[in-house]
Amino acid sequence: MTLVERDRACLWHPYTQMRLAPMPLPIVRGEGVYLFTEDGRRILDGISSWWVNIHGHSHPRINQAIAEQAARLEHVMFAGCTHEPAVALAERLIARLPKGLTRVFYSDNGSTAVEVAVKMASQYWINRGRPERRVFLTLDHAYHGDTVGAMSVSAASVFTRPFTPMLFPVLRAHAPYCFHCPVGLTRDRCAIDCLQALDTQLAEHGDTVAAVIVEPMLQGAGGMITWPAEFLAGVRRLCDRAGALLIADEVFTGFGRTGRMFACEHAAVAPDIICLSKALTAGYLPMGATVATEAIYDAFLSDDRNRTFFHGHSFTANPLACAAGLASLALFDERDVLADIARLERQLERGLSQLRQLPRVGDVRVMGGVGAVELVSSRGPGADDLYLDGIGPRLAAAFLERNLLLRPLGTVLYFMPPYVITPAEVDWVIEQIADVLRSIPEA
Ligand SMILES: Cc1ncc(COP(=O)(O)O)c(C=O)c1O
Repeated sequence: MTLVERDRACLWHPYTQMRLAPMPLPIVRGEGVYLFTEDGRRILDGISSWWVNIHGHSHPRINQAIAEQAARLEHVMFAGCTHEPAVALAERLIARLPKGLTRVFYSDNGSTAVEVAVKMASQYWINRGRPERRVFLTLDHAYHGDTVGAMSVSAASVFTRPFTPMLFPVLRAHAPYCFHCPVGLTRDRCAIDCLQALDTQLAEHGDTVAAVIVEPMLQGAGGMITWPAEFLAGVRRLCDRAGALLIADEVFTGFGRTGRMFACEHAAVAPDIICLSKALTAGYLPMGATVATEAIYDAFLSDDRNRTFFHGHSFTANPLACAAGLASLALFDERDVLADIARLERQLERGLSQLRQLPRVGDVRVMGGVGAVELVSSRGPGADDLYLDGIGPRLAAAFLERNLLLRPLGTVLYFMPPYVITPAEVDWVIEQIADVLRSIPEA
């Protein structure tokens, strides 16, 4: 039996309608921006394996760091024990993060990093004797993960619909989705008017709000929505005025993806809590980190053990994942990775903006190492089930025929390669995108 036949007999894949989905790609090897299949194909990974990979697949330095760590200590529980890679990674993260984020709490993935942030913010107010501050405020089009708390603070969508009864209620406000402006303006005629909705919510409910949670500058799964930095600055200002915490979910945006090490830097803001994962380990191993201010940490210090933060996972601070994270940060130290991303951004802007003239292209958005093309849909703008638009799988199949792995979010096609991609490879990808988009019928 082939690998795919064996897979079909025993596996159930994520986000996959197993009846309709094409056969999975049997990947046997990765190198740089390429994935190699069992039957000898070489496929360019244009989405960094779900946005996690930054330095390329199977990077010798990261491979070596993990192997050396495995030879010393593969894992030990993190309650009552500590180890060098966990301490060193926390030190290195704190040195790079926006100022004031000084307490690192490790977990297993992006959803748990968010789950930890939500529980931490909630208990923070209880420990401070303000239990009425228990509501979370989130933005339209938000995606924060698939565990129950993370789904609750995400926008209601096809992803969360079956689970609605188990989600807790939240307050919602507009996101700055300029292409479908929620207040009907265009960017050249606006003074970030969409921020008013958040202002109004906080004016009405501010005393009960535990935290506002955002994906700063670039909302990913909601459609690669790029923000004006003024919106993010405004969110910080309004949180301060209302006395609410600000949680920045940088699971996707962290580690250079938006062109800065962390997206909060675009608006020079520091959140009270930041969530990290994905590229934290350069896409090698599952790990999350939730980093809080000293003020939040202090609220949990007590002679009363009831105030403990009762959260943890078997694999908290896994040494192999920490070693991968340290090796990744060392690569950032050794070469100017952000300069590579700036070059990639310029090339994406030049290459993708020419697609605006195609009849089905509604918008082109580029930020850092992410380029997105939003197609106009026959379902009309802003339909919340655009993710299920049949165009996505059709496009994915067309790209795969050309040995390019892209996975559109419904009508939003995006390209987000590992940062080590060469200019010639970027040109090739843009050519494939242009060719395929030229061949699809008008809406
Ligand atoms: C902003 C954001 N938060 C959280 C998550 C969830 O991360 P994970 O898939 O590792 O659980 C994602 C995943 O795409 C994300 O983009």
